[in-house]
Amino acid sequence: MNNDTPCITLVGYGTMARAILCACHEQFRFEIIGRDISKAAALAKEFGQTSFGSVGFDGHVFEAEGKNILLAVKPHALSSFRTKGYAQSVMSVLAGVSIASLEKTCPALHHVRAMPNIAAVYRQSCTALFATEKIALAEQLFGACGSIIWLSSENKFDAAMALSGCAPAYLAMAAEALSDAGVREGLSREESIAFVRGLFHGFASLLDKQHPELIKESVASPSGVTIEGVALLESCGFRGALIEAIHRSLAKVRK
Ligand SMILES: NC(=O)c1ccc[n+]([C@@H]2O[C@H](COP(=O)([O-])OP(=O)(O)OC[C@H]3O[C@@H](n4cnc5c(N)ncnc54)[C@H](OP(=O)(O)O)[C@@H]3O)[C@@H](O)[C@H]2O)c1
Repeated sequence: MNNDTPCITLVGYGTMARAILCACHEQFRFEIIGRDISKAAALAKEFGQTSFGSVGFDGHVFEAEGKNILLAVKPHALSSFRTKGYAQSVMSVLAGVSIASLEKTCPALHHVRAMPNIAAVYRQSCTALFATEKIALAEQLFGACGSIIWLSSENKFDAAMALSGCAPAYLAMAAEALSDAGVREGLSREESIAFVRGLFHGFASLLDKQHPELIKESVASPSGVTIEGVALLESCGFRGALIEAIHRSLAKVRK
């Protein structure tokens, strides 16, 4: 890194802040701030960053003039974040916080909403982005976390959030259940989880190239064993449950 390396003020030091640092700490310099200086210092130290502080909260106003800011605190914390000056850019991963709210809280030349997911830790997040004007810094930062998809309208943002941000939990439940199924049928836990990991890994490659319907058709042969399971899952409302889960997550974020 040299003096030309962009510096980003990361507000927050929780799970998502850490995931982004895992992916990007070698490409960018980060100043880490939050309400607890010891937590900010610990995260900065872990990722070889030298700048941290407790400004922005509890009456300590953050001097934002010309800065690039990445908000990664809980959405409700935004109301207590205080800034002064005109930032270069404000990027936010906060669920349910609109561009209009960001503009009110922190004036800047550019405001960007981003919705990464936890796979950013392994640079495999699929991140939804929205801004009135696309900026290269957001593409570089979230591109380093995996792939990016610019949305054409802010209205689509919550749906993308539910799919990309919440679905990892649903897929983790499916993986856990399949691992239990293997154990039930006599595999050891280690064998079972190894098969499930391999399954998800291989499935990701298939999905990259094929439509899900075709993958299902190619596995489920007439009167075969797979279609028995497919029929059972349909009778249990498997697909409807997933559709409804996304719908509920979306409804909650819009509350
Ligand atoms: N985790 C995900 O998979 C994910 C995915 C996409 C987007 N996001 C978004 O990322 C943001 C952070 O989520 P997270 O999962 O990283 O949560 P987290 O691990 O619980 O971290 C929360 C962060 O918010 C700070 N915070 C909470 N209440 C605060 C307050 N009243 N004043 C100041 N700071 C406060 C915490 O500081 P203290 O420790 O000092 O409380 C911490 O830095 C959220 O807005 C969420 O919507 C998360």
